[in-house]
Amino acid sequence: MSDLSGGIQASGGGILEKKKAGVLYGVGLGPGDPELMTLKAARLIGGAAFVAYPALVGGASLARSIAADLIPKSAAEIVVKVPMTVERGPAQMAYNKGAALIAAALQAGEDVVYLCEGDPFFYGSFMYLFARLEVEFQVEVVPGVTSVAACAARSGRPLVARNERLTVLPGPLDEDELRSRIEGAESVAIMKVGRHLGKIRHVIEGLGLVEQAVYVERASLPEELICPLADAPETAPYFSMILLIKGADPWL
Ligand SMILES: C[S@@+](CC[C@H](N)C(=O)[O-])C[C@H]1O[C@@H](n2cnc3c(N)ncnc32)[C@H](O)[C@@H]1O
Repeated sequence: MSDLSGGIQASGGGILEKKKAGVLYGVGLGPGDPELMTLKAARLIGGAAFVAYPALVGGASLARSIAADLIPKSAAEIVVKVPMTVERGPAQMAYNKGAALIAAALQAGEDVVYLCEGDPFFYGSFMYLFARLEVEFQVEVVPGVTSVAACAARSGRPLVARNERLTVLPGPLDEDELRSRIEGAESVAIMKVGRHLGKIRHVIEGLGLVEQAVYVERASLPEELICPLADAPETAPYFSMILLIKGADPWL
């Protein structure tokens, strides 16, 4: 073994690992239906001594609910309570606190399985813990089915074919930016719709694209709702998305 830097040691197989400390697994759970979880995610959760997950302050954790049937009764749980504020400060404090709790378990030699809705590296809050912990600890990321893939599959709308481009836009963007990015795009997935539904609908209507737009709420969950944007409810939950398919028919 050769000492590389900061306590990182190279094993015989060439894989970098941190001596003695536990491993942090950032595990993608898919969009909600537990059957859309990978076998690797299910195996890690089923064998976990420590599980960690984000939860909104005063709210339930979608990630925990997806994995609930697999979490061993004996597992210790670390809840990272995230405030829903526009300012970054309170959330950063919450991730600092969560990272400290996870680091304590890792330092004690325990592996920690962090539950992430969808994919950890696709708009996933796991990134904030990864940034805080990966310098000191070994971290493995297990990818998951993203909400974009799930919404396309559940709505029966192929996203992109041949050389078409997919644009992913966050709903909180301001109206002008949404409009210009949609205008120049082919297929579009608009995430984080929630309280931005009215603004997004207004932009899509203004561009004359309502007929190409599908609204998807809680894809793959029992409460799933899928309909043309024209028939969407007045208000949308956070777990909703609009798909706008402007590309060519893949049969052409
Ligand atoms: C913080 S991002 C997390 C994305 C997630 N990591 C992924 O891989 O899809 C949250 C946004 O993902 C979308 N989303 C996640 N799960 C969804 C679902 N089951 N149905 C519809 N949209 C979903 C919504 O747009 C929501 O506002």
